Amino acid sequence: MMEIFVVPDAEGTGAVAAGILAAVIRSRPDAVLGVATGGSPLPVYVALAGHGLDMSGIRGFALDEYVGLPAGHPESYAEVVRREVTERLHLVPANVFVPDGGAENPDVAARDYDRAIAKAGGIDVQILGIGHNGHLAFNEPGSALDSRTRVELLTERTRQANARYFDIPDDVPERCITQGLGTILEARQLLLVVNGADKADILREALAGPVSPECPASVLQLHPHVTVVADEAAAARL
Ligand code: GLP
Repeated sequence: MMEIFVVPDAEGTGAVAAGILAAVIRSRPDAVLGVATGGSPLPVYVALAGHGLDMSGIRGFALDEYVGLPAGHPESYAEVVRREVTERLHLVPANVFVPDGGAENPDVAARDYDRAIAKAGGIDVQILGIGHNGHLAFNEPGSALDSRTRVELLTERTRQANARYFDIPDDVPERCITQGLGTILEARQLLLVVNGADKADILREALAGPVSPECPASVLQLHPHVTVVADEAAAARL
């Protein structure tokens, strides 16, 4: 089942997506949330904080992390998730997990992370954004549809898109640990949040184009419970 909500603007996407998450959290105070970084989900966290829910039993797993940033780097996803999610929503820090991009052996860290998600009982709702080239988390075009959490190379396009967050563009790492497309598909519900006219073409390709590794987000078509929340600009070509 795929349901699509179209709202006027990014703030609206945050309100609708937060409403969906709030309902899950109320019915399951120990829910496991999959949290995403990037600009699109930020209004969701802001709106969800406004619900004032008891988050003490909620667990969170991030989608991805850069490999090789110094510990505590403000743009590491560990730090972004701490600022934007854990602190804002008053999650218990020990309940929030991000792949270990500083691990001596990132391949092992990736496998351990995949296992930790399974051990937690799987993800109830996975929040997602979409990249301009159709990437989901850091699954770039060419990623196998059944891929697991693993170390990946970032494309130049993604490095450039994310350079806006870094003082020195070259500081964007070349590698990452990302949940795989197969891992993401195991979440019980997927909640895709998309804003802006620059995402209109890729959103159409993902939802209505062929299911193919060339557009990783097309795997959404394979999942039984997908909710898409888009602003009018992003939904213009649906
Ligand atoms: C980033 C993240 C993705 C995110 C995407 C889009 O690189 N790894 O999880 O969905 O790019 O980001 P934005 O929402 O800022 O366009």
